[in-house]
Amino acid sequence: MKTILITGGAGFIGSHVVRLFVKKYPECKIVNLDALTYAGNLENLKDIENAPNYVFEKADIVDADHIFSLFEKYQFDGVIHLAAESHVDRSIANPMEFIHSNVIGTVNLLNAARAFWKEPEGKRFYHVSTDEVYGSLGEDGLFTETTAYDPRSPYSASKASSDHFVRAWHHTYNLPVVLSNCSNNYGPNQFPEKLLPLFINNIILNRPLPVYGKGENVRDWLYVIDHARAIDMIFHQGKIGETYNIGGHNEWKNIDLIKVLCQIMDRKLNREAGTSEKLITYVKDRAGHDMRYAIDASKVEKELGWVPSLQFEEGLEKTIDWYLANKEWIENVTSGAYQKYYKEQYEER
Ligand code: NAD
Ligand code: DAU
Repeated sequence: MKTILITGGAGFIGSHVVRLFVKKYPECKIVNLDALTYAGNLENLKDIENAPNYVFEKADIVDADHIFSLFEKYQFDGVIHLAAESHVDRSIANPMEFIHSNVIGTVNLLNAARAFWKEPEGKRFYHVSTDEVYGSLGEDGLFTETTAYDPRSPYSASKASSDHFVRAWHHTYNLPVVLSNCSNNYGPNQFPEKLLPLFINNIILNRPLPVYGKGENVRDWLYVIDHARAIDMIFHQGKIGETYNIGGHNEWKNIDLIKVLCQIMDRKLNREAGTSEKLITYVKDRAGHDMRYAIDASKVEKELGWVPSLQFEEGLEKTIDWYLANKEWIENVTSGAYQKYYKEQYEER
Protein backbone atom coordinates (compact mmCIF):
# COMPACT_ATOMS: atom_id res chain seq x y z
CA MET A 1 0.00 0.00 0.00
CA LYS A 2 1.38 3.43 -0.97
CA THR A 3 1.23 6.20 1.59
CA ILE A 4 0.76 9.77 0.39
CA LEU A 5 1.20 12.84 2.58
CA ILE A 6 -1.05 15.78 1.72
CA THR A 7 -0.22 18.95 3.66
CA GLY A 8 -2.82 21.68 4.19
CA GLY A 9 -5.61 19.16 3.60
CA ALA A 10 -8.02 20.90 5.98
CA GLY A 11 -7.90 24.09 3.93
CA PHE A 12 -9.85 25.10 0.84
CA ILE A 13 -8.00 23.44 -2.06
CA GLY A 14 -6.37 20.79 0.14
CA SER A 15 -9.72 19.42 1.33
CA HIS A 16 -10.85 18.89 -2.27
CA VAL A 17 -7.55 17.17 -3.09
CA VAL A 18 -7.78 14.93 -0.02
CA ARG A 19 -11.38 13.93 -0.86
CA LEU A 20 -10.45 13.15 -4.48
CA PHE A 21 -7.48 10.99 -3.46
CA VAL A 22 -9.28 9.16 -0.63
CA LYS A 23 -12.14 8.22 -2.95
CA LYS A 24 -10.18 7.57 -6.15
CA TYR A 25 -7.26 5.65 -4.61
CA PRO A 26 -8.69 3.30 -1.92
CA GLU A 27 -5.47 1.25 -2.22
CA CYS A 28 -3.44 4.27 -0.96
CA LYS A 29 -3.23 5.56 2.58
CA ILE A 30 -3.82 9.33 2.54
CA VAL A 31 -2.31 11.22 5.48
CA ASN A 32 -3.66 14.75 5.86
CA LEU A 33 -1.21 16.92 7.81
CA ASP A 34 -2.53 20.30 8.88
CA ALA A 35 -1.88 22.76 11.72
CA LEU A 36 -5.56 23.82 11.71
CA THR A 37 -4.84 27.54 11.54
CA TYR A 38 -7.80 29.93 11.13
CA ALA A 39 -8.01 28.66 7.51
CA GLY A 40 -8.03 24.94 8.33
CA ASN A 41 -11.27 23.24 9.24
CA LEU A 42 -11.88 19.50 9.61
CA GLU A 43 -15.58 20.06 8.93
CA ASN A 44 -14.48 20.39 5.28
CA LEU A 45 -13.77 16.63 5.34
CA LYS A 46 -16.68 15.35 7.48
CA ASP A 47 -17.91 13.09 4.68
CA ILE A 48 -14.67 11.10 4.45
CA GLU A 49 -13.31 11.29 8.01
CA ASN A 50 -14.08 7.62 8.69
CA ALA A 51 -12.75 6.26 5.39
CA PRO A 52 -10.39 3.34 6.11
CA ASN A 53 -7.57 4.84 3.97
CA TYR A 54 -7.70 8.30 5.59
CA VAL A 55 -5.64 9.58 8.54
CA PHE A 56 -5.42 13.09 10.00
CA GLU A 57 -2.29 14.38 11.78
CA LYS A 58 -2.35 17.81 13.42
CA ALA A 59 1.14 19.24 12.91
CA ASP A 60 2.88 22.47 12.06
CA ILE A 61 5.31 22.19 9.12
CA VAL A 62 7.53 24.75 10.84
CA ASP A 63 8.24 22.12 13.54
CA ALA A 64 11.02 20.12 11.86
CA ASP A 65 11.23 17.45 14.60
CA HIS A 66 7.50 16.71 14.36
CA ILE A 67 7.72 16.52 10.54
CA PHE A 68 10.68 14.12 10.72
CA SER A 69 8.83 11.93 13.25
CA LEU A 70 5.83 11.69 10.88
CA PHE A 71 8.10 10.69 7.98
CA GLU A 72 9.57 8.01 10.30
CA LYS A 73 6.09 6.81 11.34
CA TYR A 74 4.47 6.63 7.89
CA GLN A 75 7.40 6.19 5.45
CA PHE A 76 5.64 8.34 2.83
CA ASP A 77 5.98 7.41 -0.84
CA GLY A 78 4.76 10.79 -2.08
CA VAL A 79 4.12 14.29 -0.82
CA ILE A 80 1.59 16.81 -2.14
CA HIS A 81 2.42 20.05 -0.39
CA LEU A 82 -0.35 22.66 -0.13
CA ALA A 83 0.00 23.91 3.46
CA ALA A 84 0.66 27.64 3.39
CA GLU A 85 -0.52 31.00 4.54
CA SER A 86 -2.53 31.95 1.45
CA HIS A 87 -4.15 35.39 1.76
CA VAL A 88 -2.37 38.40 0.22
CA ASP A 89 -3.97 40.99 2.56
CA ARG A 90 -2.84 39.06 5.63
CA SER A 91 0.68 38.88 4.19
CA ILE A 92 0.74 42.67 3.88
CA ALA A 93 -0.30 43.04 7.53
CA ASN A 94 1.87 40.25 8.93
CA PRO A 95 4.60 38.97 6.57
CA MET A 96 6.61 36.90 9.09
CA GLU A 97 3.95 34.18 9.37
CA PHE A 98 4.25 33.72 5.61
CA ILE A 99 8.01 33.38 5.78
CA HIS A 100 7.73 30.81 8.57
CA SER A 101 5.04 28.58 7.06
CA ASN A 102 5.65 29.03 3.36
CA VAL A 103 9.44 29.16 3.26
CA ILE A 104 10.77 27.41 6.38
CA GLY A 105 7.87 24.94 6.44
CA THR A 106 8.54 23.96 2.82
CA VAL A 107 12.27 23.53 3.45
CA ASN A 108 11.51 21.34 6.49
CA LEU A 109 9.42 19.05 4.27
CA LEU A 110 12.15 18.98 1.60
CA ASN A 111 14.76 18.07 4.23
CA ALA A 112 12.59 15.28 5.61
CA ALA A 113 11.88 13.86 2.14
CA ARG A 114 15.58 13.97 1.29
CA ALA A 115 16.53 12.26 4.56
CA PHE A 116 14.01 9.43 4.17
CA TRP A 117 14.13 8.92 0.39
CA LYS A 118 17.59 7.39 0.10
CA GLU A 119 16.33 5.66 -3.04
CA PRO A 120 14.32 8.27 -5.00
CA GLU A 121 12.82 5.69 -7.42
CA GLY A 122 9.01 5.81 -7.24
CA LYS A 123 9.00 8.80 -4.88
CA ARG A 124 7.60 12.24 -5.69
CA PHE A 125 7.48 15.63 -3.94
CA TYR A 126 4.80 17.88 -5.48
CA HIS A 127 4.76 21.57 -4.60
CA VAL A 128 1.44 23.35 -5.24
CA SER A 129 2.15 26.98 -6.03
CA THR A 130 0.59 30.11 -7.46
CA ASP A 131 0.68 32.25 -10.61
CA GLU A 132 1.40 35.27 -8.38
CA VAL A 133 5.12 34.36 -8.46
CA TYR A 134 5.23 35.78 -12.01
CA GLY A 135 4.19 39.27 -10.92
CA SER A 136 1.65 41.35 -12.79
CA LEU A 137 0.67 41.47 -16.49
CA GLY A 138 -0.28 44.50 -18.57
CA GLU A 139 -3.33 44.40 -20.82
CA ASP A 140 -1.91 41.62 -23.03
CA GLY A 141 0.03 38.42 -22.63
CA LEU A 142 -0.16 35.31 -20.48
CA PHE A 143 2.09 33.75 -17.86
CA THR A 144 3.93 30.71 -19.24
CA GLU A 145 6.20 28.29 -17.39
CA THR A 146 9.22 30.31 -18.62
CA THR A 147 7.96 33.74 -17.52
CA ALA A 148 10.58 35.30 -15.23
CA TYR A 149 9.70 35.37 -11.53
CA ASP A 150 8.72 38.84 -10.27
CA PRO A 151 6.81 38.42 -6.99
CA ARG A 152 5.49 41.66 -5.58
CA SER A 153 3.62 40.91 -2.33
CA PRO A 154 4.98 39.23 0.82
CA TYR A 155 2.71 36.25 -0.02
CA SER A 156 3.96 35.86 -3.58
CA ALA A 157 7.58 36.44 -2.50
CA SER A 158 7.23 33.62 0.04
CA LYS A 159 5.71 31.27 -2.57
CA ALA A 160 8.40 32.21 -5.14
CA SER A 161 11.03 31.50 -2.51
CA SER A 162 9.53 28.09 -1.74
CA ASP A 163 9.39 27.26 -5.48
CA HIS A 164 13.11 28.08 -5.75
CA PHE A 165 13.93 25.87 -2.76
CA VAL A 166 11.95 22.98 -4.27
CA ARG A 167 13.86 23.30 -7.57
CA ALA A 168 17.18 23.68 -5.68
CA TRP A 169 16.55 20.38 -3.82
CA HIS A 170 15.96 18.73 -7.19
CA HIS A 171 19.08 20.11 -8.87
CA THR A 172 21.38 19.77 -5.86
CA TYR A 173 20.16 16.60 -4.15
CA ASN A 174 18.28 14.90 -6.99
CA LEU A 175 15.00 15.01 -5.04
CA PRO A 176 12.20 13.94 -7.43
CA VAL A 177 10.04 17.06 -7.51
CA VAL A 178 7.24 18.44 -9.65
CA LEU A 179 5.55 21.86 -9.35
CA SER A 180 2.45 23.66 -10.55
CA ASN A 181 1.47 27.33 -10.54
CA CYS A 182 -2.25 27.94 -10.60
CA SER A 183 -4.55 30.95 -11.02
CA ASN A 184 -7.37 32.07 -8.67
CA ASN A 185 -9.51 29.21 -7.40
CA TYR A 186 -13.14 29.49 -6.34
CA GLY A 187 -15.69 26.98 -5.06
CA PRO A 188 -17.11 25.43 -1.87
CA ASN A 189 -15.18 25.65 1.41
CA GLN A 190 -13.16 28.76 0.55
CA PHE A 191 -12.57 30.90 3.62
CA PRO A 192 -14.67 34.10 3.50
CA GLU A 193 -11.67 36.43 3.33
CA LYS A 194 -11.14 35.78 -0.40
CA LEU A 195 -13.14 37.88 -2.88
CA LEU A 196 -15.99 35.53 -3.87
CA PRO A 197 -16.92 33.95 -0.51
CA LEU A 198 -16.46 37.28 1.26
CA PHE A 199 -18.82 39.02 -1.14
CA ILE A 200 -21.36 36.17 -1.10
CA ASN A 201 -21.44 36.32 2.70
CA ASN A 202 -21.64 40.12 2.75
CA ILE A 203 -24.57 40.06 0.32
CA ILE A 204 -26.37 37.52 2.52
CA LEU A 205 -25.75 39.81 5.53
CA ASN A 206 -26.53 43.04 3.62
CA ARG A 207 -23.04 44.34 4.36
CA PRO A 208 -21.00 46.67 2.07
CA LEU A 209 -19.01 45.00 -0.76
CA PRO A 210 -15.50 46.51 -0.45
CA VAL A 211 -14.07 46.82 -3.97
CA TYR A 212 -10.37 47.68 -3.87
CA GLY A 213 -9.36 50.71 -5.99
CA LYS A 214 -11.43 51.03 -9.15
CA GLY A 215 -12.20 47.30 -9.40
CA GLU A 216 -10.29 47.10 -12.68
CA ASN A 217 -7.82 44.40 -11.66
CA VAL A 218 -8.14 41.15 -13.61
CA ARG A 219 -8.01 37.58 -12.28
CA ASP A 220 -8.27 34.24 -14.11
CA TRP A 221 -10.78 32.05 -12.24
CA LEU A 222 -10.74 28.24 -11.98
CA TYR A 223 -13.20 25.96 -10.18
CA VAL A 224 -11.39 24.25 -7.30
CA ILE A 225 -12.34 20.71 -8.35
CA ASP A 226 -10.72 21.30 -11.75
CA HIS A 227 -7.56 22.33 -9.90
CA ALA A 228 -7.75 19.15 -7.80
CA ARG A 229 -8.09 17.09 -11.01
CA ALA A 230 -5.01 18.80 -12.45
CA ILE A 231 -3.07 18.08 -9.24
CA ASP A 232 -4.01 14.40 -9.51
CA MET A 233 -2.77 14.26 -13.13
CA ILE A 234 0.45 16.14 -12.46
CA PHE A 235 1.23 14.08 -9.34
CA HIS A 236 0.83 10.83 -11.27
CA GLN A 237 1.96 11.74 -14.79
CA GLY A 238 3.95 15.00 -14.59
CA LYS A 239 7.63 14.79 -15.49
CA ILE A 240 10.11 14.98 -12.64
CA GLY A 241 11.73 18.43 -12.40
CA GLU A 242 8.99 20.08 -14.47
CA THR A 243 6.56 22.91 -13.74
CA TYR A 244 2.99 23.11 -15.07
CA ASN A 245 0.84 26.23 -15.21
CA ILE A 246 -2.86 25.71 -14.47
CA GLY A 247 -5.60 28.22 -15.29
CA GLY A 248 -9.19 28.58 -16.38
CA HIS A 249 -8.93 30.66 -19.60
CA ASN A 250 -11.43 32.72 -17.68
CA GLU A 251 -10.35 36.31 -17.13
CA TRP A 252 -12.65 38.73 -15.33
CA LYS A 253 -12.24 42.33 -14.31
CA ASN A 254 -13.17 42.34 -10.59
CA ILE A 255 -16.01 44.82 -10.99
CA ASP A 256 -17.59 42.86 -13.87
CA LEU A 257 -17.42 39.64 -11.89
CA ILE A 258 -18.90 41.35 -8.82
CA LYS A 259 -21.83 42.69 -10.86
CA VAL A 260 -22.61 39.22 -12.23
CA LEU A 261 -22.40 37.84 -8.70
CA CYS A 262 -24.80 40.53 -7.47
CA GLN A 263 -27.35 39.65 -10.18
CA ILE A 264 -27.26 35.94 -9.36
CA MET A 265 -27.52 36.65 -5.63
CA ASP A 266 -30.59 38.88 -6.13
CA ARG A 267 -32.24 36.01 -8.02
CA LYS A 268 -31.29 33.34 -5.46
CA LEU A 269 -32.36 35.47 -2.49
CA ASN A 270 -35.58 36.64 -4.19
CA ARG A 271 -34.49 40.24 -3.82
CA GLU A 272 -35.42 42.99 -6.23
CA ALA A 273 -32.98 43.28 -9.17
CA GLY A 274 -30.22 45.78 -8.32
CA THR A 275 -30.43 45.30 -4.53
CA SER A 276 -27.01 43.65 -4.12
CA GLU A 277 -25.23 46.06 -6.50
CA LYS A 278 -26.21 48.92 -4.19
CA LEU A 279 -23.87 47.36 -1.60
CA ILE A 280 -20.79 47.97 -3.80
CA THR A 281 -18.43 50.36 -2.00
CA TYR A 282 -15.10 51.47 -3.47
CA VAL A 283 -12.42 51.38 -0.77
CA LYS A 284 -8.70 52.13 -0.47
CA ASP A 285 -6.72 49.93 -2.83
CA ARG A 286 -4.61 46.97 -1.68
CA ALA A 287 -0.96 48.05 -1.30
CA GLY A 288 1.03 46.96 -4.37
CA HIS A 289 -2.13 45.50 -5.94
CA ASP A 290 -1.14 43.36 -8.98
CA MET A 291 -3.16 44.50 -12.00
CA ARG A 292 -3.67 41.35 -14.04
CA TYR A 293 -3.02 37.60 -13.85
CA ALA A 294 -3.73 35.21 -16.73
CA ILE A 295 -2.37 31.74 -17.36
CA ASP A 296 -1.26 29.95 -20.51
CA ALA A 297 -2.20 26.37 -19.55
CA SER A 298 -1.26 24.83 -22.91
CA LYS A 299 1.57 22.68 -21.48
CA VAL A 300 -0.63 20.76 -19.02
CA GLU A 301 -3.34 20.52 -21.67
CA LYS A 302 -1.05 19.16 -24.41
CA GLU A 303 1.21 16.95 -22.30
CA LEU A 304 -1.29 15.56 -19.79
CA GLY A 305 -4.66 16.14 -21.48
CA TRP A 306 -6.07 18.28 -18.66
CA VAL A 307 -8.84 20.76 -19.47
CA PRO A 308 -11.19 22.57 -17.11
CA SER A 309 -14.45 20.60 -16.96
CA LEU A 310 -16.82 23.29 -15.78
CA GLN A 311 -18.10 26.43 -17.50
CA PHE A 312 -17.67 29.47 -15.24
CA GLU A 313 -21.40 30.28 -15.06
CA GLU A 314 -22.10 26.74 -13.83
CA GLY A 315 -19.22 26.86 -11.33
CA LEU A 316 -20.36 30.19 -9.95
CA GLU A 317 -23.96 28.96 -9.48
CA LYS A 318 -22.70 25.80 -7.76
CA THR A 319 -20.49 27.86 -5.48
CA ILE A 320 -23.26 30.27 -4.51
CA ASP A 321 -25.67 27.37 -3.90
CA TRP A 322 -23.09 25.74 -1.62
CA TYR A 323 -22.68 28.86 0.52
CA LEU A 324 -26.45 29.38 0.72
CA ALA A 325 -26.89 25.77 1.84
CA ASN A 326 -24.01 25.94 4.35
CA LYS A 327 -24.67 29.06 6.40
CA GLU A 328 -23.69 27.16 9.55
CA TRP A 329 -20.24 26.48 8.03
CA ILE A 330 -19.84 30.22 7.37
CA GLU A 331 -20.96 31.04 10.93
CA ASN A 332 -18.51 28.52 12.40
CA VAL A 333 -15.47 29.73 10.45
CA THR A 334 -16.26 33.42 10.93
CA SER A 335 -16.77 33.26 14.68
CA GLY A 336 -13.91 34.28 17.01
CA ALA A 337 -10.74 35.77 15.50
CA TYR A 338 -12.41 36.52 12.15
CA GLN A 339 -14.38 39.39 13.69
CA LYS A 340 -11.18 41.21 14.65
CA TYR A 341 -9.68 40.56 11.21
CA TYR A 342 -12.78 41.92 9.47
CA LYS A 343 -12.83 45.06 11.60
CA GLU A 344 -9.15 45.82 10.97
CA GLN A 345 -9.33 44.98 7.26
CA TYR A 346 -12.57 46.73 6.35
CA GLU A 347 -14.21 48.83 9.04
CA GLU A 348 -10.98 50.73 9.67
CA ARG A 349 -9.97 50.86 5.99
P1 NAD B 1 -6.07 27.89 2.66
O1 NAD B 1 -5.57 29.09 3.39
O2 NAD B 1 -7.53 27.70 2.46
O3 NAD B 1 -5.55 26.56 3.39
C1 NAD B 1 -4.22 26.43 3.85
C2 NAD B 1 -4.17 25.24 4.80
O4 NAD B 1 -2.81 25.11 5.23
C3 NAD B 1 -5.04 25.41 6.05
O5 NAD B 1 -5.74 24.21 6.30
C4 NAD B 1 -4.03 25.70 7.15
O6 NAD B 1 -4.45 25.21 8.43
C5 NAD B 1 -2.80 24.95 6.65
N1 NAD B 1 -1.54 25.53 7.17
C6 NAD B 1 -1.16 26.82 7.11
N2 NAD B 1 0.05 26.95 7.71
C7 NAD B 1 0.41 25.72 8.14
C8 NAD B 1 1.54 25.21 8.82
N3 NAD B 1 2.53 26.01 9.23
N4 NAD B 1 1.61 23.88 9.08
C9 NAD B 1 0.60 23.05 8.69
N5 NAD B 1 -0.51 23.49 8.07
C10 NAD B 1 -0.60 24.80 7.79
O7 NAD B 1 -5.28 27.89 1.27
P2 NAD B 1 -5.75 27.42 -0.18
O8 NAD B 1 -6.38 28.55 -0.86
O9 NAD B 1 -6.43 26.11 -0.06
O10 NAD B 1 -4.32 27.20 -0.86
C11 NAD B 1 -3.64 25.95 -0.73
C12 NAD B 1 -2.32 26.04 -1.48
O11 NAD B 1 -2.57 26.34 -2.86
C13 NAD B 1 -1.39 27.14 -0.98
O12 NAD B 1 -0.07 26.65 -1.03
C14 NAD B 1 -1.59 28.28 -1.96
O13 NAD B 1 -0.42 29.07 -2.07
C15 NAD B 1 -1.85 27.51 -3.24
N6 NAD B 1 -2.69 28.20 -4.24
C16 NAD B 1 -3.89 28.76 -3.89
C17 NAD B 1 -4.67 29.35 -4.87
C18 NAD B 1 -6.02 29.96 -4.53
O14 NAD B 1 -6.64 30.59 -5.41
N7 NAD B 1 -6.56 29.80 -3.34
C19 NAD B 1 -4.24 29.40 -6.20
C20 NAD B 1 -2.99 28.84 -6.51
C21 NAD B 1 -2.23 28.23 -5.53
O1 DAU C 1 -3.69 33.88 -8.32
C1 DAU C 1 -3.69 32.89 -7.35
C2 DAU C 1 -3.89 33.50 -5.98
O2 DAU C 1 -5.26 33.92 -5.93
C3 DAU C 1 -3.58 32.55 -4.84
O3 DAU C 1 -2.22 32.22 -4.86
C4 DAU C 1 -3.93 33.19 -3.49
O4 DAU C 1 -3.73 32.24 -2.45
C5 DAU C 1 -5.39 33.60 -3.52
O5 DAU C 1 -5.71 34.27 -2.33
C6 DAU C 1 -5.68 34.50 -4.72
O6 DAU C 1 -5.06 35.80 -4.56
P1 DAU C 1 -5.82 37.17 -4.92
O7 DAU C 1 -5.19 38.27 -4.16
O8 DAU C 1 -5.95 37.33 -6.39
O9 DAU C 1 -7.30 36.79 -4.35
P2 DAU C 1 -8.35 37.63 -3.48
O10 DAU C 1 -9.59 36.80 -3.42
O11 DAU C 1 -7.77 38.13 -2.21
O12 DAU C 1 -8.63 38.90 -4.41
C7 DAU C 1 -9.11 38.76 -5.75
C8 DAU C 1 -9.22 40.17 -6.35
O13 DAU C 1 -10.27 40.88 -5.68
C9 DAU C 1 -7.97 41.01 -6.17
O14 DAU C 1 -7.78 41.83 -7.30
C10 DAU C 1 -8.26 41.87 -4.95
C11 DAU C 1 -9.76 42.08 -5.04
N1 DAU C 1 -10.46 42.23 -3.75
C12 DAU C 1 -10.27 41.26 -2.81
C13 DAU C 1 -10.88 41.35 -1.58
C14 DAU C 1 -10.65 40.30 -0.52
C15 DAU C 1 -11.34 43.29 -3.53
O15 DAU C 1 -11.54 44.15 -4.40
N2 DAU C 1 -11.95 43.37 -2.31
C16 DAU C 1 -11.76 42.45 -1.31
O16 DAU C 1 -12.34 42.62 -0.22
